[in-house]
Amino acid sequence: MERRNFFLSTLSLLSAGTVAAMAAAPAALHALSPLLKRAKNNHDWHDLGPVEDLTADQPLKKTIEVVRKDGWQLRRQDQAVYLIPGAGGPVAVSSICPHLGCPVSYSAESAQFECPCHKSFWGPDGKRTSGPSPRDLDPLPTKVEEGRLYCRWVTYQTGIETPVEA
Ligand code: FES
Repeated sequence: MERRNFFLSTLSLLSAGTVAAMAAAPAALHALSPLLKRAKNNHDWHDLGPVEDLTADQPLKKTIEVVRKDGWQLRRQDQAVYLIPGAGGPVAVSSICPHLGCPVSYSAESAQFECPCHKSFWGPDGKRTSGPSPRDLDPLPTKVEEGRLYCRWVTYQTGIETPVEA
């Protein structure tokens, strides 16, 4: 093979390889998306402790460690969750404001959940009472195993009326 033909063949193969790689990129990203989503919505169960220790007459704050995606990095971060007294046992809710995602906290003094960013308020049952939040505090999945309560972290979309996983 002539040197020139060899050069052109090699160049052609490299071009085809580049095009194939570019075509495969979306598929690769799609394949990775469950991993990236998993970073947002950590499917691990977090042990909150014995159920009998979690029964209070007002919301109880607990801290879990969740995995967050920061660019291409995954990092661990403490995240507050609240346990609300319920007839069938404690109900877990997110401490992320459904309006635009600021942290919500419970004030025992005023007996309500409050978001300081744009002044949204919820009753001690997590139901919205006033402010721009479009919905109640978001529920988190829970389960009881061998007398211990576990919850799973979920990141929800903000600014919409229905809780939808992000
Ligand atoms: S982010 Fe909470 S009221 Fe706006």
